[in-house]
Parts: sequence; structure tokens; C-alpha cells
Amino acid sequence: MAEDLKIVSGNKKEQYLSLLPQISALIADENDEIANMANVCAALKEQFNFFWVGFYLVKNGELVLGPFQGPVACTRIKPGRGVCGSSWEQKKILIVPDVEAFPGHISCNSASKSEIVLPILKNGNVIGVLDVDSNELDSFDEFDAIYLNQIINLIDYG
Ligand code: SME
Repeated sequence: MAEDLKIVSGNKKEQYLSLLPQISALIADENDEIANMANVCAALKEQFNFFWVGFYLVKNGELVLGPFQGPVACTRIKPGRGVCGSSWEQKKILIVPDVEAFPGHISCNSASKSEIVLPILKNGNVIGVLDVDSNELDSFDEFDAIYLNQIINLIDYG
């Protein structure tokens, strides 16, 4: 496995298209899902310099903070709470252009302005979410939804 990530410039689609095969290669020989989630966060942070990127994993009826990159964050989120808990409950990708306009948004850091959350599904059940935060408004769109979804689906969650 090559440990060096090739960082490209270009538009969002070009950046994701460069990153996808690299993440695929990065996690191909590793079957520990925590290790793979950790490297996915690091690769996304390195390429896009997202303010915060991380996983929350369903444990005993709550989302619990998993591997992430960025400032310290809230550790537990109840079903239906915030963007993460809503994505979990609705089993839907949620794109929030302005977090202050999202009812119940959980502010782990006041610098976070927009957010995308993707549910991770296994056998039809949500087993966690990927949460990406930006310190700018309106940072996420359908391209992020499509490619981040492909990235989380590269991981075998055991
Ligand atoms: N803002 C999220 C909470 C997680 S942090 O952003 C890392 C939410 O409303 O669910």
C-alpha cells in the first residue's frame, strides 16, 4: 500500500475522481473497519481540507463518535437529534447549506457553517453516519452526496 496520497487541484468532481481509487487501494488490504474509517477521514481531510470529517457509529441506540479529523466534537447523539440523528432516523443523505437554519442542529463548533451527513446502511439498517462540516456556507452539493456515498460504500463494516 502506498501511504502517500496524491493531492490534486481541480474542480470537486476531479478531486473526488482522483481520490476514489486511492481510497480503494488504501483500504483494500485491511479488514479492520475502524482503521479504514480513520484513513478515509484522513484522506478526505488531506484532499479537501474539510473543517471536520468523521464517523458516528450506532451503539446501544445512540450515535457515538468514531474516527474523525478536525476539532474535538460531541461524543453522543440521540436518534432524530441534529443533522446526524435526522439522517439516521430518515435513512437519508442530508445536505444543510446553513446549519443555523436547520432546526435542532447540534453545534459542536461555532465555526461550522454547512454540513452533509450520509447514513451508512448494512442489511437495510443504519449502522452509522459520515458527517462532513465546512466553515463556509453552502459547501456541499449533489457531487459530494454521490462521491462521499461511493467512498463510504468502499468500507466493509464487518
Ligand atoms: N452538527 C452535527 C453534530 C456533529 S458535529 O457537527 C461534528 C449535527 O447536528 O448532528
